Amino acid sequence: MTAALLLAAGCSSSGNGSDEDQGGSAGSTAAGATGVAGSTAGSGGHATGASGNGGATSGAGGASAGAGGTGAGGTGGAQTVGTCSPPADIYSPIQKLSLTGCVDPNDPTKLTARAVTYEVNSPLWSDGADKTRAFVLPAGGKIHVDATTGKWVFPVGSVLIKNFLFDNKFVETRLFMHVDDTTWVGYGYEWNGQSADKQTDANIVGIGGDEVKFNTGSRTVDWFYPSRADCMSCHNDVAGDSLGPSNMQMYRVNQGQTVNQLDQFEQMGLFDAAPAKPATDQVLVAPYTTSLGSPPAGATLDQKARSYLQANCAHCHQPNDGNNQSVFPNFDLRFTTAFKDIGVCNTPVTQGMVPGSTSNTIFKPGDPMSSVMLTRMTEPYTDQNGDGRMPKIGTHVVDAQGVSLIGDWITSIKSCP
Ligand code: HEC
Ligand code: HEC
Repeated sequence: MTAALLLAAGCSSSGNGSDEDQGGSAGSTAAGATGVAGSTAGSGGHATGASGNGGATSGAGGASAGAGGTGAGGTGGAQTVGTCSPPADIYSPIQKLSLTGCVDPNDPTKLTARAVTYEVNSPLWSDGADKTRAFVLPAGGKIHVDATTGKWVFPVGSVLIKNFLFDNKFVETRLFMHVDDTTWVGYGYEWNGQSADKQTDANIVGIGGDEVKFNTGSRTVDWFYPSRADCMSCHNDVAGDSLGPSNMQMYRVNQGQTVNQLDQFEQMGLFDAAPAKPATDQVLVAPYTTSLGSPPAGATLDQKARSYLQANCAHCHQPNDGNNQSVFPNFDLRFTTAFKDIGVCNTPVTQGMVPGSTSNTIFKPGDPMSSVMLTRMTEPYTDQNGDGRMPKIGTHVVDAQGVSLIGDWITSIKSCP
């Protein structure tokens, strides 16, 4: 038998199985719930989808592997739509976003009804792109929240989704998939329909990434599509693979909502056990005002700066730093590490000076312009492996608000502890 589904036009996403598991409320928060799911997809589709998902690598999402014609009586021309799960062969991902099952195949700008959208407290800076975030759990899968770290551990078969938009035009959709106990894989999809055209689909980004000028219709934006290896340099094992979902990022009341996101997801039955609520000082704040919200009243400069560094730097700069192979084992920008232990204050650089600066100190108390940490954030982008620009990958545009925040923070600290 094959787990692949044939999808006749109009059937929409087939993953109705998980709607059941999530008690229907999943659909209600899905950004693009189209209303078609649950209509005529049919119980046959449901059953196959569910078993495919459970089997993680069993091929449910398997690229274009033959559907074998056993699906819902496929008609000529209908294309196989996956079940939004990792491909059987990670080197053969589904080429078109519309066929992944993670989006509505008839309108890939809308997520599958199975997707649960979420927001974070402190977003990664991506050149000012607007973002939407969601996850799709495999049938019956639950999220486990680690009681010590507050990290959200996703079951094998999960797919995490992030969309990047400028001027309401999609530039990229990223899928991050939990393949097996030790493996995650990330794929970027490059959207069509620049300028005035309607956006109908996105194609998989080549394994080495891509660099484009994206025309939103009102302006041109330089956009770098990270390679699959780039995904893993930030989404590394030491940092915990998935980077946003954790109590510190997810404990928040989203705009237009009254219930905390953690409580909302608990009510939806998404966790294997009710997570304990994090202490206030364990939760990130918005570093500055974005479309996701503003820093809470009373948020300190220290909280804002440390929240920023957690979201933008800590996945590479923490002990045993994943892909960086311990170049700087003591350089630790995680929010939860006390300032005296983050290894920057009056610490000499190991990687040399930044062009145009004579400072050789990572963090010079009271003196942002002599702090390599800050000057690295303002370095112009040159190429993918730029001359010292931080974050190392994934941005062309200096984050002026981030720079001003980190500058103020350095100014405010007058001496090393
Ligand atoms: C420069 C570091 C960096 C690179 C490169 C990167 N990401 Fe991320 N990504 C992050 C951070 C940090 C977050 C969490 C913060 C947020 O959501 O704004 C994140 C969030 C995500 C999410 C939401 C789930 C999660 O883990 O938080 C997805 C999906 C995702 N990234 C996919 C990808 C894929 C696929 C690639 C490669 C094509 C990629 N990312 C490359 C840093 C990066
Ligand atoms: C994708 C991984 C990655 C991210 C994200 C990242 N860095 Fe780095 N960082 C590196 C690597 C690799 C090096 C060493 C290579 C180099 O010097 O460019 C480095 C070097 C540095 C250094 C030089 C340290 C020394 O001893 O000389 C500083 C300071 C720094 N990063 C600060 C930051 C800050 C601040 C952020 C967030 C705004 C950040 N980094 C985000 C990977 C990263």
